[in-house]
Amino acid sequence: MSSQNVNNPAKGALKSLAIIMDGNGRWATRRGLPRKEGHIQGAKVVERVLAHVRELGIHHLTLYAFSTENWKRPEEEVEGLMSLFYKYVTHVAIPKIKSDPELGMMFIGDKSALPEKLRKKCIEAERLSEGKSFICNIALNYGGRAEIVNAANKAFSEGHTTLTEELLSRYMYTSHSPDPDLVIRTGGDFRISNFLLWQSAYSEYIILDTLWPDITDEEIDDCVARFNSRERRFGGVVDKPKKG
Ligand code: FPP
Repeated sequence: MSSQNVNNPAKGALKSLAIIMDGNGRWATRRGLPRKEGHIQGAKVVERVLAHVRELGIHHLTLYAFSTENWKRPEEEVEGLMSLFYKYVTHVAIPKIKSDPELGMMFIGDKSALPEKLRKKCIEAERLSEGKSFICNIALNYGGRAEIVNAANKAFSEGHTTLTEELLSRYMYTSHSPDPDLVIRTGGDFRISNFLLWQSAYSEYIILDTLWPDITDEEIDDCVARFNSRERRFGGVVDKPKKG
């Protein structure tokens, strides 16, 4: 189905989508390329998926780009990723946010540990994103457990002595976005990998074997259709029509 098709049946109730973009390394290795080539291709795919997701009427997209655990990768790979993120934010994200009145980008995670010039660009992009109607959250140096601890500490430091779910949600990195309705993970692994632990309590999950750089618009459509066919009960029961 064409991504240009305005009558796309995948359009529907899904307003907030999150994606664990896994498989860049395998994509590159299978082609005899260095892993960094997989990440470069992965960044190009981000652009296409972002555009397609917007066509589907989804208003919030959250992408897992770099976890708090990813610092353990070889130095060369980490440096390559940081350089790729810098180029992406500077030469792709910021110009697009400036020229597109609806597009905003936020960077969720602990920005303080990012290279200074990347951190500054992320903050600039966020400033330009205020009031935008479509938000793409890029998780950079993000960890779900760290986020919960950070939120609790922030709440205490501002004088709160008791936590509630509603209060803690307000201190999460994602306080500007609704919880994801659907989380897609590419690359075939059945793992959460410390992603949106708080926010995905009632999210639907779909695991795709497809490696991130190979994901197609049609596969995204199919995931949305699968989401639309699922019955979400949020721990309750769905009333069945009474007989007679
Ligand atoms: C996981 O695949 C992917 C990453 C750790 C990096 C994600 C980065 C991108 C998709 C590209 C840049 C993103 C933006 C937002 C510009 P992996 O390396 O763990 O793959 P593997 O499981 O095959 O080894």
